[in-house]
Amino acid sequence: MPELSSASKKIYGEAAFEVLGKAQELERKGKEIIHFEIGEPDMETPENIVKAGILAIKNKKTHYTPSIGILELRKAVQYEVEKTRGYRPAIEQVVITPGLKPGIFFSMLAIVNPGDEVIYQDPGYPTYGSVSSYLGAKRILVPLLEENEFRMNPDDIKSRITEKTKLIIVNSPQNPTGSVITKSELEEISELAEENDIFIVSDEIYSKMTYETDHFTPTKRDEAKKRTILLDGFSKYFAMTGWRLGYMVAPVKMAERLQDFLVSAVSCTADFTQWAGVEALKGNQSFISEMMRRFKQKRDKIVKGLNTIPGFSCLSPKGAFYAFPNIKKTGLTSNECAEHILYKAGVACLPGTAFGPYGEGYLRFSYANTLENIDLAIERIKNSF
Ligand SMILES: Cc1ncc(COP(=O)(O)O)c(C=O)c1O
Repeated sequence: MPELSSASKKIYGEAAFEVLGKAQELERKGKEIIHFEIGEPDMETPENIVKAGILAIKNKKTHYTPSIGILELRKAVQYEVEKTRGYRPAIEQVVITPGLKPGIFFSMLAIVNPGDEVIYQDPGYPTYGSVSSYLGAKRILVPLLEENEFRMNPDDIKSRITEKTKLIIVNSPQNPTGSVITKSELEEISELAEENDIFIVSDEIYSKMTYETDHFTPTKRDEAKKRTILLDGFSKYFAMTGWRLGYMVAPVKMAERLQDFLVSAVSCTADFTQWAGVEALKGNQSFISEMMRRFKQKRDKIVKGLNTIPGFSCLSPKGAFYAFPNIKKTGLTSNECAEHILYKAGVACLPGTAFGPYGEGYLRFSYANTLENIDLAIERIKNSF
């Protein structure tokens, strides 16, 4: 085979899928595994949304749409952003994407040049590092410390800004730690971006998934008109991971560029999926509060349980559906500990290092599983040591 491009060797995948592969291999051999590795809700897409999708297919919404998305969904997003973020973007700022991930990819392609510096949280969602690496950018990590409840400290961003800093990526509620940045911290980060003429991409895929606190956005300061880009999507809180639907709100000039990326890469987001999205945003919202009521029970149970395992300690996360226990006192590394509990306890979770070097000493449990399985997993882990 001829040589692949050098850039293609710099992009990398996600450990969640590797662990899933190992767990499935064990299941094929007859071992019963309890799964906590994949970041996906354990509920099905609400019936009203499913029906809207099916109806759309029957009504022949099965063709290409404008690459930027159908007007009905873009208007629904405009209303949604006004309702949830407190500003109404212009319709030209709203771009529909097939999942949130292409929003990360395309906005980074539109912003970052080789040699630029990209600041993001570590441990953090692997895509930010992978795409930065692909683009030849320098990755500048901001460590998330347990002492600060895994929130990004604005002073740590400030001390890392140089004349080469082009982009700060913010993710709150955060994957993998479940931390939620405060309003004043976000205001400080937005101010830093403005003072230093830096873009902010705000990944808000867990925006409706907070406990005991509200969600805030750094895009409020400029209303995504100058330097901030809001990314959100339907995957998590509408349980629509497989539908592939997300949106971006970006400065108009950038949205025009993004349209061309979409045309070149995917043409458009699936027509009927977008119609299902209209129903998701405009229809009954009670599904989300029910989902979060259940997730809170699960969070409380898993955090309590993890804290009873010798060598483990776990903070109570304020958002998303991930618990991030400290396992340093077990004397094992994250990888050793994750392997130990997979092979000895039949419990699949991710090593913190799957999210970057500062994840060492931690594990990530996606607690989208039943209360019974959470209890069983904790018992099994305890007995495995
Ligand atoms: C922080 C974060 N951003 C983006 C995504 C991907 O979202 P989507 O499935 O809509 O592309 C995930 C999924 O795990 C995530 O955790």
